[in-house]
Amino acid sequence: MIRYINESMMIRKAVRQYRNWLWAIHDRKLNIHTGIVSNTTTYHCDIGALHRDSRIYEPADYSLLYKIFRIIKLTSDDKICDVGCGMGRIPCVAASLGVKHAYGIELDRDLADIAIENAENLRRPHSPITILVGDAALADYSEYSIIFLFNPFGATTMESVVSRIVRSLSTHPRRVRIVYYHPAENAVLARSGHFGLRRTIRSIAHKHVTEIWSTS
Ligand SMILES: C[S@@+](CC[C@H](N)C(=O)[O-])C[C@H]1O[C@@H](n2cnc3c(N)ncnc32)[C@H](O)[C@@H]1O
Repeated sequence: MIRYINESMMIRKAVRQYRNWLWAIHDRKLNIHTGIVSNTTTYHCDIGALHRDSRIYEPADYSLLYKIFRIIKLTSDDKICDVGCGMGRIPCVAASLGVKHAYGIELDRDLADIAIENAENLRRPHSPITILVGDAALADYSEYSIIFLFNPFGATTMESVVSRIVRSLSTHPRRVRIVYYHPAENAVLARSGHFGLRRTIRSIAHKHVTEIWSTS
């Protein structure tokens, strides 16, 4: 039994090391740094947040991210916002793929500073990037056609974010797509009555499912 536990821990460690190595290659290609610094460093700061239900920083997997962007067919008209952007991996990838404008909103000042530095260093050419420091529960969503969420917070903040997005639809009527990676609080979207689930993206290589929701 102990031997089995040791072996499975070693396998998990090797898989993690391999994944980090792949991520480092993608980071180098883009000239950014978005990997977790060490296994003991966790960025988690929801001081000042309205609801205090933040989840810790973990970047989306690069290969899954490229797959998602291929499936949803990002266009040069899209303005995409990663809500809870951490070190800015998602806005940097979206900007390198030629969206109109890539945005990130991040609560944690340290993470947001890294995201800003990454946006400045991102290998050119790329679309404009804006990183906003603040609470997603208080943000304005009226600019965006795509809203990306990688399980950034619990149901209470999710309620505030979805109601703000819905309110923005009456002031700025448009089609909005929500890409929800690891959709832990998808019941909030279903309850809103404004979004329908259009597609679920699964991959055997990744533990996280991604859901694509949109207005009609
Ligand atoms: C799972 S990580 C995802 C990071 C990033 N989207 C990525 O995939 O690389 C969740 C992020 O959401 C941020 N976050 C949590 N609550 C937030 C809030 N209320 N407003 C803005 N950002 C928040 C966390 O600080 C963390 O960086």
